[in-house]
Amino acid sequence: MAYSISMSLVHIIVFLWIQIKSASPSELSCNEFERSALLKLKQSFKDPLNALSSWKGFDCCSWKGVECGNYTDRIIGLNLSRKSLEGEINPSLLELKHIISLDLSLNDFNGTDIPDFIGSLANLRYLNLSNSNFVGSVPHHLGNLSRLQYLDLGSDESISISGLSNDDLSWVSRLSSLRYLDMRMINLRKATNWLHEVNELPSLSVLRLSSCNIYTIPQSILHLNLTYLTVFDLSSNNIRSTLPEWLFNMTNLNVLDLSRNFLSGPIPGTFQNMPFLKVLNLGHNSLSGYIPLSIDQLTSLEELYLNSNRLNGTLPQIIGQMSTLTILNVSSNLLTGIVTESHFANLSRLNILNLSFNNFSLQVSSNWTPPFRLDSIYMSSCRLGPRFPPWLITQKGYAKLDIGNAGVVDSLPTWFWSLTSEIVSLNLSLNQIKGSLPPSLHSISITFMDLSSNLFEGPLPRLHHGIQMLQLNDNSFEGTIPLDLGHDMPMLRCLQLSNNLFHGPIPRSLCELDQLVVLWLANNNLTGAIPDCWSNLGALEILDLGNNNLYGRIPESFGYMNSLVSLHLNNNDLFGELPLSLKNCTLLTLLDLSNNQLSGNIPTWIPNSLTNLIILRLRSNRFIGPVPPELSRLNSLQLLDISINKLSGTIPISFGNFTSMKKTKMKGTLLGEPWSGYEEHLMVCINGRQLRYTKTLSLVTSVDLSSNNLYGEIPSEITSLVGLLVLNLSKNGLSGEIPQNIGNMGWLESLDLSKNQLNGQIPPTLSNLTSLTHLNLSFNNLSGRIPLGFQLQTFTDPSIYEGNSGLCGPPLTEGCSQSSMNITSSNSGGDDGIGTLWLELSVIAGFVTGVVVVLSVLLLQRSWRLMFFVAVDKAFDWVHAKIGRSSKTSIIGVFGEDRENF
Ligand SMILES: *[C@@H]1O[C@H](CO)[C@@H](O)[C@H](O)[C@H]1NC(C)=O
Ligand SMILES: *[C@@H]1O[C@H](CO)[C@@H](O)[C@H](O)[C@H]1NC(C)=O
Ligand SMILES: *[C@@H]1O[C@H](CO)[C@@H](O)[C@H](O)[C@H]1NC(C)=O
Ligand SMILES: *[C@@H]1O[C@H](CO)[C@@H](O)[C@H](O)[C@H]1NC(C)=O
Ligand SMILES: *[C@@H]1O[C@H](CO)[C@@H](O)[C@H](O)[C@H]1NC(C)=O
Ligand SMILES: *[C@@H]1O[C@H](CO)[C@@H](O)[C@H](O)[C@H]1NC(C)=O
Ligand SMILES: *[C@@H]1O[C@H](CO)[C@@H](O)[C@H](O)[C@H]1NC(C)=O
Ligand SMILES: *[C@@H]1O[C@H](CO)[C@@H](O)[C@H](O)[C@H]1NC(C)=O
Repeated sequence: MAYSISMSLVHIIVFLWIQIKSASPSELSCNEFERSALLKLKQSFKDPLNALSSWKGFDCCSWKGVECGNYTDRIIGLNLSRKSLEGEINPSLLELKHIISLDLSLNDFNGTDIPDFIGSLANLRYLNLSNSNFVGSVPHHLGNLSRLQYLDLGSDESISISGLSNDDLSWVSRLSSLRYLDMRMINLRKATNWLHEVNELPSLSVLRLSSCNIYTIPQSILHLNLTYLTVFDLSSNNIRSTLPEWLFNMTNLNVLDLSRNFLSGPIPGTFQNMPFLKVLNLGHNSLSGYIPLSIDQLTSLEELYLNSNRLNGTLPQIIGQMSTLTILNVSSNLLTGIVTESHFANLSRLNILNLSFNNFSLQVSSNWTPPFRLDSIYMSSCRLGPRFPPWLITQKGYAKLDIGNAGVVDSLPTWFWSLTSEIVSLNLSLNQIKGSLPPSLHSISITFMDLSSNLFEGPLPRLHHGIQMLQLNDNSFEGTIPLDLGHDMPMLRCLQLSNNLFHGPIPRSLCELDQLVVLWLANNNLTGAIPDCWSNLGALEILDLGNNNLYGRIPESFGYMNSLVSLHLNNNDLFGELPLSLKNCTLLTLLDLSNNQLSGNIPTWIPNSLTNLIILRLRSNRFIGPVPPELSRLNSLQLLDISINKLSGTIPISFGNFTSMKKTKMKGTLLGEPWSGYEEHLMVCINGRQLRYTKTLSLVTSVDLSSNNLYGEIPSEITSLVGLLVLNLSKNGLSGEIPQNIGNMGWLESLDLSKNQLNGQIPPTLSNLTSLTHLNLSFNNLSGRIPLGFQLQTFTDPSIYEGNSGLCGPPLTEGCSQSSMNITSSNSGGDDGIGTLWLELSVIAGFVTGVVVVLSVLLLQRSWRLMFFVAVDKAFDWVHAKIGRSSKTSIIGVFGEDRENF
């Protein structure tokens, strides 16, 4: 965010510079004491770049960074900024008794304290120690610098992280000449009196306290001394209160930045005392209520950020009269209503407009010529359609356009691409826009292009070689993937072509995309073998080639993709054994190879090497041999589907040991790569139907061993998987009794034991399974009375018990003889209605926690953070919507999406 630099700051610097310069002309060589002090200083520094190489000879006034007065031989300024100096600061600095200006910023003092003795340089007017990797408490000795006008101790997040803190700012109040104070990133959490101390500085013009871990701001103040304050930056703190009114009494403010706090309550409408305010940033708080109509009293306002709050009501029309505005950002609020031409009537200087993620509907005449010419247009989720907005033709040369999910049902106008030669980022996703991409597109220097979920068609043309994200999924593009795509677009990080009509082979040139993180080609009709050339794709995290017609073996070179997190090769014609090299992909959390012709044993290197797996799906292949007991070492595994193979042997008793399936609190996280729009997804077979899971995939726990040749008893250990939602052991040759304590599996929603040779009675504890919505025990040798009880009573379809000649009692028509009467219902003792509801709510709570966990992990990975936040915002909306809906239905019922019959 480029703040206009405050004029007064410029004044201060010019003023100080003049003062330094004006001290006098020099023919004089330097003072001998000061020269030797400088040499000692030089010795105490490590100087890897030899930046102080000019510090030799007698005339120290001519040394780099050293400034002597014009009329004296004394040093008045030392500027060692950005010299990559390391080490400590020698106290010989104190010999420079006349020094007025000291700049040691942007060096690396390697975690040392700010030396106390700097507080003895009594003439200092300018002191800059910013971004220098000092740590510890700021010495209160600095309070002795009574002439100090400029003090910068801050750090920029992008450069360094500050290790400084300060529990008591009373020393600051002694700096009575101070005009500029920057303490960004210094931990002031315990300095609760900060405002009181700062308020003692009547000349203060610039106050920067962003990212200081400040928790409080006084709601009222007896007398506000800060009448000269022009810049007040309190952004990125932890302030949780309402907006204090006195803030709006600071008459000379140019910049007020309170963004990224937890401010709540309404925005006070008292703006009449701020005639010079140019930048008002209240974004990323929890402010509520309306945008005040009196906002137009800010007659100099250029940048208004109210984004990411909970503001409701409409956009005041009066904003259209604020002719000084260049940036208007009200995105991600709860605003509604119709936005018309008059909202923009006089906004001729507007440059950036962000109305995204509200509930606006833009209604302007078809020949509207806006007064502005925008550089960035963000109107995601505004209703602009059904026509493609004709006024865009007036906005030549914009760099960013986002009209995703805008209700446009139209063809892309022919003029569209001819206007966009400067465009960097384009999002037209989630509309119903028709059209094809012109062959000339490669001359447009676009970096991010998202046309997903529209009705685009035709071939994929060559695009600009600098493009990084290309999202064309969910359209009707056709033809082959261009053979040269890999060298034509070498910067791609994300390529999403899924759900189109592409056919033909996967071009080998894709293997040249060494920056690629997401490759999503699923749901096309790609044919031929997967090329064996993946050794350069060490950055790839998501590879989804599912639902194509790919033929052949899984390439050995997949083993070089050691960042791979998710691999979908399902629903192709792949055969052969799994390549041993896949062992290398140790970060894999999801492996879906289902519905192919893969053969051989299930390798034991899967549990031994792929220890992060959350989902393992080998369903419907030709795997033979035993079920490896080692699988239970997969501590994170939540979904195991090895059904429809030719596996034999018994169910390992170690299967009672799946750590994640024993937990009833969730769980792993599988969010895909939200910045890219790639959402993790999987078809899960439940009750004989395939359900497509996306956002809630990480909530599903399932073991499916059905349709194999397994025999022996069901190990009772399996009942310790109390977090399991789905258990399917059907269509095997299992014998013996159903484990008596099956009633422990309190989360089970679906239990299928049909088509085995199980015998004995149905355990009465089955009626404890209050979440059970699907049960199938048919075609076994079970006998005795069907237990009664809360949930079991809801299963009135007799077919779930059919084919067991010995069963009797409802819902079967066969009555029970007297001898089987002793088996009666077991009382679960609980109130099933409350129980079920509680489980569902805790699932949702678990999901929210999951999101928070990913969030904090991603916080550490800076580069994609912002885009991630956008995605999480959406995820939260989604959770809210679901909480509203889910209170009475089952998890599976609610969360399964896009049902398909199996
Ligand atoms: C100090 O001397 C330098 C060099 O002669 C000159 O450029 C500068 O203007 C002088 N400063 C003042 C305020 O006289
Ligand atoms: C920085 O400090 C650390 C430990 O405090 C020390 O190991 C390291 O050598 C220092 N580096 C320099 C360049 O002084
Ligand atoms: C305002 O500044 C004056 C003079 O610096 C000081 O005496 C007074 O205490 C300050 N007022 C407040 C409320 O801090
Ligand atoms: C704002 O200033 C006016 C006039 O100086 C004063 O009457 C009023 O009390 C001040 N409001 C606050 C909240 O400080
Ligand atoms: C707007 O938000 C305020 C404060 O949260 C609330 O009291 C009011 O009912 C809301 N108004 C509308 C129309 O939603
Ligand atoms: C997929 O491609 C194959 C081979 O080109 C063709 O036979 C088949 O009809 C295509 N399927 C679809 C759904 O287009
Ligand atoms: C597995 O990874 C190692 C090191 O990352 C690499 O040297 C080796 O070639 C890889 N093996 C295969 C088969 O890709
Ligand atoms: C299950 O885990 C426990 C504890 O880790 C271990 O002692 C036991 O041997 C495991 N059981 C099997 C069958 O692997």
